[in-house]
Amino acid sequence: MASALLELTGVSKSFGGVQALRDVDFTLLAGEIHGLAGENGAGKSTLMKIIAGAHGADEGQMKINGQPVRFRSSRDALAAGIGMVHQELSVAPELSVAENVFLGAQPVNRLGIVAWRDMARAAAEQLKNLGLDIDPRARLGDFPIGVQQLVELSRVLFSGARIIILDEPTSALSPPEIERLFSVLSKVKASGRSIVFISHFLDDILKISDEITIFRNGRKVATTPVTAAIDKAWIIERMIGLGREELEESYLGEIRLDSRPEAPVVLATKGLTLAPAYREVSFEARAGEVLGVYGFMGCGQLELARTLFGRLRADHGVMEIAGRPMTLANTTAGKRAGIAYVAESRRAMLFSEEPVFKNVSIAILERLSRWLLKPDRERVIAQAQVKSLDIRPPHIEARLGGLSGGNQQKVALAKWLTHPPRILLLAEPTRGMDVGAKEDVVKIVRALRDQGIAVIVFSTEPETVLSLADRVLVMRKGEIAHEFASEAISKDRLLAAA
Ligand SMILES: Nc1ncnc2c1ncn2[C@@H]1O[C@H](COP(=O)(O)OP(=O)(O)OP(=O)(O)O)[C@@H](O)[C@H]1O
Ligand SMILES: [Mg+2]
Repeated sequence: MASALLELTGVSKSFGGVQALRDVDFTLLAGEIHGLAGENGAGKSTLMKIIAGAHGADEGQMKINGQPVRFRSSRDALAAGIGMVHQELSVAPELSVAENVFLGAQPVNRLGIVAWRDMARAAAEQLKNLGLDIDPRARLGDFPIGVQQLVELSRVLFSGARIIILDEPTSALSPPEIERLFSVLSKVKASGRSIVFISHFLDDILKISDEITIFRNGRKVATTPVTAAIDKAWIIERMIGLGREELEESYLGEIRLDSRPEAPVVLATKGLTLAPAYREVSFEARAGEVLGVYGFMGCGQLELARTLFGRLRADHGVMEIAGRPMTLANTTAGKRAGIAYVAESRRAMLFSEEPVFKNVSIAILERLSRWLLKPDRERVIAQAQVKSLDIRPPHIEARLGGLSGGNQQKVALAKWLTHPPRILLLAEPTRGMDVGAKEDVVKIVRALRDQGIAVIVFSTEPETVLSLADRVLVMRKGEIAHEFASEAISKDRLLAAA
């Protein structure tokens, strides 16, 4: 039996009022690949950051080879042989590829001067192992995200660390890049080192891991060797706690989708491609329906949404609005074609120093000139919206920036009610909102839909899609992998398709 290289017991951690980890035990064996799964916010990254010295635990112990350790910084952890590639890309885009490979650990000559030539040669060699044949002197920021992610991975993979933690390493990688990464991981493992692999792609986890651990809501719910009996459904069941009261009570147990195949097609795409973000995307959105587009971070949905609005240009493929082919040169063209986009970062769309009523009427002002809309009329419209949407506090003169995130989101949506577009694209419309505010957003979106608008909701949260959509497209690694229409759908079926 393999020995425990790393052992954590009773680890707890909270951030302010949020309990991110509760009494977690975790063991990493020597020479294994250990997969971690769990929904967004389950605590995976937090536990790994504790191991890598980026966070301190509130409670609990950690041992390496049986010896208690306590890290005060990532530097301490590195010195103990623990390297982590964080979920958020943290390369230095202004520096060269080689400097990024050796960030913080540049080889120096006898005089203490960085050995540029050696560094470039060594970097090129390491990157070849990952299938990357690029000029090590080129500026890293000029390469696509997938390449940047591989460069960042190489930094830790070849650092000599004996415990390597990879947090969501494949989100920006193409299938062949993932294959190469996996073959490198197998070699690292064969050399006796250990790897923790966090991913939302359960197929990937099952393929590469010897053992898996599943988190739910800050707790570890299972650890098991990966055998033939362990499949995606088994993991999903534990990730979301299927069959338990919490799920039965919630409205998410099973949702009936209600698509409207007879309604006119307002927006259609055929073979839309923007490499490497998404490929051959073909779908139709109809009047009076909410189409959900679900997928994990990095699946290409965000880029797709931006293309539909005119912010990005597809490499090829066709987009049709009400049956007419259209090429949107920019977002102004998108607006003119009747498309509205409420971005994920709603702050960019709102004027936080302005009062609520101005933010509500902005959609109207974009189309009518100011003198057509009398100030008192502006206030009357806003007052009605604030009341019907239950925006709190209900004062149209209040400065928008003083409202909570959820209430700001309501304002962002309210402005479209007063002057409906033909197509409304919503990215993560309920992120970070409490239950009540989410319900209000559902009501607003339904009201917009019932006015005949084609609404498309892009989200990485299953709950958001399930509570809003009449039909769902699932995107996986840049492609539409599945469509759910006129059928019963549940969270586990949605996750299994992604
Ligand atoms: N620095 C922080 N400050 C405040 N809260 C935090 C911080 N880091 C994590 N949290 C909270 O702790 C909980 C666990 O977060 P964590 O990032 O560990 O989840 P995760 O399992 O990695 O999720 P994901 O799959 O979305 O990456 C969440 O509720 C999160 O909001
Ligand atoms: Mg995470």
